[in-house]
Amino acid sequence: MSKNAEGLAAQIKAIAGGAPVRVGLILGSGLGHIADAVDGTAIPYGDLPGFPHAGVSGHNPDLVIGDLEGVRVAVFGGRSHYYEHGKADAMRLPLEVLRALGAEVMIATNAAGSMRPDMPTGSIMCLSDHINFSGLNPLIGEPTDARFVPMMDAYDPQIRASLRAAADATGTDMADGVYAWYSGPSFETPAEIKAIATLGADAVGMSTVPEVILARFLGLKSAAISTITNMAAGMGDEAISHEHTKAMAPIGAAKLETVLRQFLRDLK
Ligand code: HPA
Repeated sequence: MSKNAEGLAAQIKAIAGGAPVRVGLILGSGLGHIADAVDGTAIPYGDLPGFPHAGVSGHNPDLVIGDLEGVRVAVFGGRSHYYEHGKADAMRLPLEVLRALGAEVMIATNAAGSMRPDMPTGSIMCLSDHINFSGLNPLIGEPTDARFVPMMDAYDPQIRASLRAAADATGTDMADGVYAWYSGPSFETPAEIKAIATLGADAVGMSTVPEVILARFLGLKSAAISTITNMAAGMGDEAISHEHTKAMAPIGAAKLETVLRQFLRDLK
């Protein structure tokens, strides 16, 4: 854990209270409203030196610490993506801070394109595993042997089972599937989508994978849920654009929020 992260955690505790955080949530495109539901303190990323300037429209850059369904959470209202600056480890400091705040669990959310006809726009998908289609890694340059992180069960089986139970209890349709990380910022070509689907991925997006690698490195259990905002390139007639992603995210986001709230109620 870096000194910087310890210092930021102390600063955050002084503002938001010192009770340990249990769960960290990273919000993807169009999911920012979940932060508004937290009863707590919002700290702009700009007040936290070293935090990314989450400049992608659709992301709201506050860290919100407080209570959601009776569980103390840290909600990251924005993430940094590799495509913004070419740094795969841009979320390392925020995740180190999450660990220093006492969290044991990180749940990432994202918007993604679907390669599965039975998982159309508006669906949600609980990640069972991922394919790093980018060749990048947030731990390149990490000097210690801790960099050799095992990625078996990277998406924690127990947390996935709890998310599944929460979906079932609330009557929410949630698929299971493999997510492929594509660097972006351009979207994929139809030929790339065909290749990614052939390799075994069910959905594709531009985030989450580096965060899950970092979370495992830091000893955080991780899970992730995608909201499907479009059929991937060549798989449907939808126009694929960031505008479309933001417009479609709320459909899945409502389901995602239902599942997350039930998950937290069960955790309490
Ligand atoms: N590809 C990559 N990222 C995405 C997509 C997509 O089709 N939809 C939303 N994020």
